[in-house]
Amino acid sequence: MKNANQTVVVLDFGGQYKELIARRVRECGVHSQILAGSTPIERLKEIAPIGMILTGGPHSVYDASSPHTVRELFELGIPILGICYGMQLMAYTLGGEVKACGVSEYGTIDAVYDDPSCALFKDLELNTVTLMSHTDYVARMPQGFRAVAHTADCPIAAMCDEQKGLYAVQFHPEVERTREGTKLLHNFLYEVCKAKGDYNIDDFIEREVARIREQVGDKQVVLGLSGGVDSSVCAAILEKAIPNQLTCIFVDHGMMRKNEGDEIEQAFSGKSLNFVRVDASERFLSKLQGVTEPERKRKIIGEEFVRVFEQESAKFEGSFLAQGTIYPDVVESGLTTGAVIKSHHNVGGLPKDTKFIGIVEPLRSLFKDEVRALGRKLGLDEKLVSRQPFPGPGLAVRCIGEITRERLDILREADWIYRCELEKAGLHYDQYFAVLTDMRTVGVMGDGRTYNYVLGLRAVITSDFMTCEYAHIPYSVLDVVSSRIVNEVKGVSRVVYDVTGKPPATIEWE
Ligand code: XMP
Repeated sequence: MKNANQTVVVLDFGGQYKELIARRVRECGVHSQILAGSTPIERLKEIAPIGMILTGGPHSVYDASSPHTVRELFELGIPILGICYGMQLMAYTLGGEVKACGVSEYGTIDAVYDDPSCALFKDLELNTVTLMSHTDYVARMPQGFRAVAHTADCPIAAMCDEQKGLYAVQFHPEVERTREGTKLLHNFLYEVCKAKGDYNIDDFIEREVARIREQVGDKQVVLGLSGGVDSSVCAAILEKAIPNQLTCIFVDHGMMRKNEGDEIEQAFSGKSLNFVRVDASERFLSKLQGVTEPERKRKIIGEEFVRVFEQESAKFEGSFLAQGTIYPDVVESGLTTGAVIKSHHNVGGLPKDTKFIGIVEPLRSLFKDEVRALGRKLGLDEKLVSRQPFPGPGLAVRCIGEITRERLDILREADWIYRCELEKAGLHYDQYFAVLTDMRTVGVMGDGRTYNYVLGLRAVITSDFMTCEYAHIPYSVLDVVSSRIVNEVKGVSRVVYDVTGKPPATIEWE
């Protein structure tokens, strides 16, 4: 393997944004690797990164239990950027002083980059906006440092010791809400670390293929293929890595969109992988009978998925289970921060009594748009790659209340009309779908009274699916969609359009 490109190590001190930092570094064309903050100096010397970034974290440097580091880290001659807690840790370790803020800063805060000669600020607006989230601050800098930025309540919002290549910012340059944050990181990488910018998606493929081969050896791998972007790209990279050891099982749980099952079968049969379609709708729907609580639905579906895979893969004794888990799934299931927003069916490891010997998750560190770029690079059909995401539990998350065949049919037809009309109007949004609510309202059709379901329509604009805005669909298109649905789909009396962003809502309704 080539593996000669330059690496920036992201040292994790417990911050929720470590993957985002790593992703920004990749976006800037530099390979990044996340390691624990406690990684021994010897290991770092072996890796010989061109730079290191110390993440934020929820701690205070004065707590005995908080993660610390050693002075030697800053004496390796490798440029370092400390972010938030990383900045405080740098100051504390090198003999500066960290104190509790008089006024804590949370949210977007006006900041001034005071010293345009600091490499971090090259070509940046000096009066800017940064995302802050801290209750401690650097009150006195270590010897050799100078302050290069401030906010109204934080006199040292950034500091540097250029001689030693040490830089630190109290704010979070990795998030979009810090204006020109990515440019600042770019400056660190190119002006300070002198990066060559030699990382691209080919490197990811090469590394991941090697990693998969090493993990799997000569064992078989069974992939749950949903036909969505994530599992399709996962299939493609697995096929490249281990073409003769891969079986893709498409479990038709009866909660796919209209015609979707057949389309998936068409797209994957005939490739150099073993494709199996299992009709398990009866099994799923009977388990879900009477269940209305969204988290219970997800748990049941997640459990059933694994069971069906196991049954189908019984002939591959001692095989691995592959999953198309991507990074936002991991975040939302609380595996990085401890806060569960919703449990994704494909996150959380294997059930205790499983027969699989391990999990293969090639996309676990990637964000959605990176997964699409990877799919294109692997030669997948554009239609498949640009497909809007569809959750693993399928229409179950869009059928509020009890899930029955009849209610799924109503949803499927309405969703189909909605999607067709948007396409006909030439409108492309990142994700759009219909949701069947469990609320019924009175309506009038012809001369008769109706008492039918309220159907929700959602369309969002997003690049990472972790936040979104609702799409401003023209009223003329909503008119057509609404009247077609109410007229053509029996069981719907009213159509509403969702005008909420994420946060505070999520993309799916559940
Ligand atoms: P939310 O509703 O959490 O959705 O804002 C974010 C993105 O994730 C998709 N989603 C899922 N994808 N398995 C998946 O593979 C799931 O269980 C799941 N739940 C939500 C959702 O459609 C949106 O694109």
